[in-house]
Amino acid sequence: MVDKQVLETAKEHFGKVLEGQLERVENLKAEGDWTDYGAISPVVIGVLGGDGIGPTITEEAKNVLEYLLREQVDSGKVEFRTIDGLTIENRAEKLQAIPDDVLEEIRKCHVTLKGPTHTPEKGDGWPNIESANVAMRKALDLFANVRPVRIPKEKIDWIIFRENTEDMYAVGSQGINVTPDLAMDFRVITSQGSRRILQLAFDHARRTGKTKVTVVTKANVVKTTDGKFLDIAREVAEDYPDITWDGWYIDIMTAKLLDLERRHEFQVIALPNLYGDILSDEAGQIQGGVGTAGSANIGKQYGMFEAIHGSAPRMVREGRDIYADPSSVMRAGAMMLEHIGYSDLGSRLHKALDVCGQYERKVVMTGRSTGATGREFGEYVMATVQEADLESRWEQYSLT
Ligand code: IPM
Ligand code: MG
Repeated sequence: MVDKQVLETAKEHFGKVLEGQLERVENLKAEGDWTDYGAISPVVIGVLGGDGIGPTITEEAKNVLEYLLREQVDSGKVEFRTIDGLTIENRAEKLQAIPDDVLEEIRKCHVTLKGPTHTPEKGDGWPNIESANVAMRKALDLFANVRPVRIPKEKIDWIIFRENTEDMYAVGSQGINVTPDLAMDFRVITSQGSRRILQLAFDHARRTGKTKVTVVTKANVVKTTDGKFLDIAREVAEDYPDITWDGWYIDIMTAKLLDLERRHEFQVIALPNLYGDILSDEAGQIQGGVGTAGSANIGKQYGMFEAIHGSAPRMVREGRDIYADPSSVMRAGAMMLEHIGYSDLGSRLHKALDVCGQYERKVVMTGRSTGATGREFGEYVMATVQEADLESRWEQYSLT
């Protein structure tokens, strides 16, 4: 016998979730234009250290960004601003994913460089508040999570466009235990949300001379939401007759990334949030570890740049935090430079990271005392970025 009261409570809960999402769709329809960073002075870069290994790796990235942008800082075109308080201790005390005053400071910056933050999980000792990443992505409408993975030796040059505000993440903290035995979460996919990420992926392909976009879903099983994502992909693709596209299912896609013969054929990959979360960790691992991969979380108004990985509490517990690889946040920093209009500086930093992490490897990190510390690696990158012949060395390496 179905308990009527249980049913009513669940329906009411679902009604509230629906109301919130219907309102969100209306807001999506009224979206503004992209920020023109060239027209802003100073462009304010907020730096948030985060938790665990966050503060140490973010510091290394900040050092090199401050070096690269020294002229812009001197002339008042760029300003760095440190924002405190996005720590698990403060978030737990305020019982907020992002405390109000911290969010207010973040909104005063045009872009932020963010260290990983601890994401509580039921039973881990912290209050089970929403992830700070997820909250920030939603609050600032950072709808695109762009994650490049490059392995020049293998001719791999992937760029993942992960939708960043919908899917299982949209209302991931608003699921319901209908009865002690029945738990339900809700998955959200909208036309507007799908269209903007797919357009960004196709635009990127066109702008960078790529020829193919791969759209990843599980639309054969998850028919309604993934079905919509794929339908919108078909529509968007019509506006890009110069770009070919194909659809893959997430399961075979994860397998294909391990196919040494074919994987270099993928170019631009566009997919809903959770599949993108998983596939980008796999891709990062293939590149040399998630510690080597950075990401851009971008929306029309704001941008947030961070590692693709978490705060590594295990490394901290085992006293290995000084061995954490700062490349991920440095890569994110390079993407930030490109995003705010300093493509040359961004490209320089990417090249220095290629030289240090993939080609020359004079300082090698292992994540433990058998390898270099993050500080040593940071110094290596800083020295490399300053070398006059960096460009030609990088080119030589990339030819061999
Ligand atoms: C990422 C992370 C986050 C996510 C976590 C920390 C909430 O895994 O940026 O990929 O799931 O998006
Ligand atoms: Mg992840």
